[in-house]
Amino acid sequence: MNAPEKAVAQAMPHVMNTYARLPLALSHGKGCWVWDTEGRKYLDGLGGIAVNTLGHAHPKLVPALQDQIARLIHSSNYYEVPLQETLAARLCELSGLNAVFFCSTGLEANECALKIARKFGHDRGIARPEIIVYEGAFHGRSIATLSATANPKIQAGFGPLVEGFVRVPLNDLAAVQQVARDNPNVVAVFLETIQGEGGIHPSRWEYLQGLRRLCDEQQWLLMLDEVQCGIGRTGKWFAHQWAGIVPDVMPLAKGLGSGVPIGAVVVGPKAVNVLGPGNHGTTFGGNPLAMRAGVETLRIMVEEGVMENAAVVGAALKAGLQRDLQGVEGVVDVRGQGLMLGIELARPCGALLGRAAAAGLMLSVTADKVIRLVPPLILSADEAAQIVAILCPLIRAFLAEPAAA
Ligand SMILES: Cc1ncc(COP(=O)(O)O)c(C=O)c1O
Repeated sequence: MNAPEKAVAQAMPHVMNTYARLPLALSHGKGCWVWDTEGRKYLDGLGGIAVNTLGHAHPKLVPALQDQIARLIHSSNYYEVPLQETLAARLCELSGLNAVFFCSTGLEANECALKIARKFGHDRGIARPEIIVYEGAFHGRSIATLSATANPKIQAGFGPLVEGFVRVPLNDLAAVQQVARDNPNVVAVFLETIQGEGGIHPSRWEYLQGLRRLCDEQQWLLMLDEVQCGIGRTGKWFAHQWAGIVPDVMPLAKGLGSGVPIGAVVVGPKAVNVLGPGNHGTTFGGNPLAMRAGVETLRIMVEEGVMENAAVVGAALKAGLQRDLQGVEGVVDVRGQGLMLGIELARPCGALLGRAAAAGLMLSVTADKVIRLVPPLILSADEAAQIVAILCPLIRAFLAEPAAA
């Protein structure tokens, strides 16, 4: 290990203390495996939180990014960026939508979606537009997106929150129909197709179909946050495609650049002309390096059948977890689609994060009680079996202990 790596592995007193971190630092990776600065090896069940679509050091992605870095990393949106058009055209082709705004993160993509919804309302003469959001939702940590988020822990200390949100429970169409009757200011419905941070809660496909119909009747925008569940993770390009519907606005980020920061908002005909020059922008959005990462990620995914792999290996991983954990007291549910899986336990299980790392597995725990697996989409069947073999004994041992007071 060299000296700078050693420094990272120790405490980081000059880095603002906004994360509860495990005391380890990753040094490098290959495929679905990562190594820390002490030389320990881990199977990556986290993929940088649903980011490393192609795993680590992918042999086709690395030279493409090296080539782009040597040509042009950043230019400016003062000029045309041809790679933006290449990536936008591909995202439109895959989604059936019409145009894309590029940014650098998920919250920025959502912030743009919220601005589109409000402007869409103003353009229709609604002076105080409101947006339907969901219990259990997570959309980011800017002031607007944390206001749309449902978690009081994330909102605490940051009031006053942004107004103009109406909250409903997930998968309850009657609740949304009631809002439609009561509130003439609503302009959009905004939800994650599969809630991620909230604990891997999928929208039912019939629910999404019902929302699509309602949004059409009411002239609302259907805005599906696919920041975590999009880009092949569930075995289709976008999770809503399982329901056979098309949204009006779709924020993306995370997996689109396989680790290079990128965000995108893909819009359909109802939203395509809402924003014009001067309405929105960001310095880094759409820069050539991020665009190349997106173009190459999507290209390699097709070349190597990565999305199909996510469907097949995801199903095998879920089945393996269900088989191994069947009848274990304290296991509430194993759910999710493709390689976006959650194992809900009957009690908080944050302790499993460190224990899994000690056993050589990266994962996350979200919503206190849900073990989340969002590995690279190149995970092999053998690696999925290894996840089951490492994780299930840890869960059983954890649940056999008396609950912490
Ligand atoms: C569904 C969803 N939306 C938005 C975000 C925020 O993305 P970012 O952390 O890139 O701002 C996340 C992050 O976890 C997410 O899961």
